Amino acid sequence: MLLTDLTLAAMDPAAPGLLPHAAIALDGDRILWSGPKADLPPELRALPSRSLQGRLVTPALIDCHTHLVHAGHRAAEFEARLNGATYEQIARAGGGILSTVRATRAASEDDLVQSALPHLDALLADGSGTVEIKSGYGLDVETELRMLRAARTLGTLRSIEVKTTFLGAHAIPPEFAGRAGDYLTQIVLPTLRAAQAEGLVDAVDGFCEGIAFSPDDIATLFAEAGALKLPVKLHAEQLSHLGGAALAAQHNALSADHLEYATEDDARAMAASGTVAVLLPGAFYTLRERQAPPVAAFREHGVPMALATDCNPGSSPMSSLLLAMNMGCTLWGLTVREVWDAVTTHAARALRLPDRGRIAPGLRADLAIWDAESPAELVYRLGARPLHARIHGGQWC
Ligand code: NIG
Ligand code: FE
Repeated sequence: MLLTDLTLAAMDPAAPGLLPHAAIALDGDRILWSGPKADLPPELRALPSRSLQGRLVTPALIDCHTHLVHAGHRAAEFEARLNGATYEQIARAGGGILSTVRATRAASEDDLVQSALPHLDALLADGSGTVEIKSGYGLDVETELRMLRAARTLGTLRSIEVKTTFLGAHAIPPEFAGRAGDYLTQIVLPTLRAAQAEGLVDAVDGFCEGIAFSPDDIATLFAEAGALKLPVKLHAEQLSHLGGAALAAQHNALSADHLEYATEDDARAMAASGTVAVLLPGAFYTLRERQAPPVAAFREHGVPMALATDCNPGSSPMSSLLLAMNMGCTLWGLTVREVWDAVTTHAARALRLPDRGRIAPGLRADLAIWDAESPAELVYRLGARPLHARIHGGQWC
């Protein structure tokens, strides 16, 4: 297929800027060629072609951090926070993540799929082509596996690729209260091995925080991930500085996520290990955090920054990556170019997917076609639905 009469935003360092009057040739699920239409090689001119009438084309977006599979909602906690309760107080009182755990344990695999679909459809409608989905609301063997299976099923129901992350170390379930170590050895590690044996795990994640797991606990988890040859990532330095980002860097983690309390030393360590900083403005906004992540230090030390929705029923009930991009700019001063890199090339890197996130020959034909003139236009509007169509694996959808 040949796409013509388009404005190309390739998000490729080798082809920076906007290219009007461009064309893209696709071969099956791959990009064959892209560039100025006038330079189209003669042998590609006979391909069946479709004019995009001047529309903007970018790589499909990649949401590299979500908790899309869960049951129920936590609107009452939103109200409690408005009345002065904090996220941590709610969690310590048995609400928060544990309230979603209760609902998720009671849900069937099909319930989980059905309740995730509206959120997934919202992400698709905003131009996403790849989404990462975590477990972590089961905290027992069966429910963690059920969440991962539901996530994989979602990838078969829509034209999107789903990557699954095992997050058994998300919270300590009530039956192990005060015994994080026992929960890790008796549930988390065996469940990880079972999930991996079933082919359900693309990466391993944990929540390193006072209300969750210590750096020592996470080191135990990462050792097991290493033994299984699985890449790791970490929810780190979200509400306090515990050393999670440095630990993630030490284990060559794909990403450290949240990072509001990360320091310049953390940025240095992450740059050295190539760990992506996944910033989650939806959680920062929803929890009305005051401390912004150290964007200037990430920039200065060359830490790649990604952005994601963190779509979840508690800290970030958000299912729009375009909104996350707007927040990245407005709340933290990221540039338009930075937020586009954050949901394309850098998000791909956070998921170890080198075959996407840019428009370049040989990469996956995952494209977003927009009713817009420039990438900036897509970031500045709030609540617009500017997507015209997507191409997923070479298929128009
Ligand atoms: O990424 N920080 C920990 N985990 C999720 C929150 C999940 C929840 O509140 O249900 C997050 O923000
Ligand atoms: Fe998260």
